Amino acid sequence: MTCDYNLLMDKAREASKMSYSPFSKFAVGAAVCAGSGKIYTGCNIENSSFGMTICAERCAIFKAISEGEKEISAVAIFSPNEDDCYPCGACRQVMYEFQGENEIEIITADKSGLNIRKMSDFLPFGFKI
Ligand code: THU
Repeated sequence: MTCDYNLLMDKAREASKMSYSPFSKFAVGAAVCAGSGKIYTGCNIENSSFGMTICAERCAIFKAISEGEKEISAVAIFSPNEDDCYPCGACRQVMYEFQGENEIEIITADKSGLNIRKMSDFLPFGFKI
């Protein structure tokens, strides 16, 4: 399933506005294109008990999977604080779990536009049982 990556990034940008990040003040939004073609969004949600924080990417992926999706084909990530906001290691592993037959595409943005890379650029030799 392919998505319009400009639309996916617009959704990630929109989702970053919902970020709850009073501690880091680093807002992140993510939008995933799921197997059905539907888009799910998420934002980072921090907590006074810092370890309870969830990243935007996992928030979006868990929303998709909990709604019955089986795989993810693309993930767009946006932060107003940083060009090319890359996924953390934990989120890379979670993305990898839900990769289907084709590699997940990971979309970030800088001032000149979108950058489209593959899952294996971010997580070579991924682990999956
Ligand atoms: N964060 C994300 O939401 N996604 C990432 O891939 C990197 C980090 C969040 C977690 C935390 O709320 C803030 O950014 C600073 O680490």
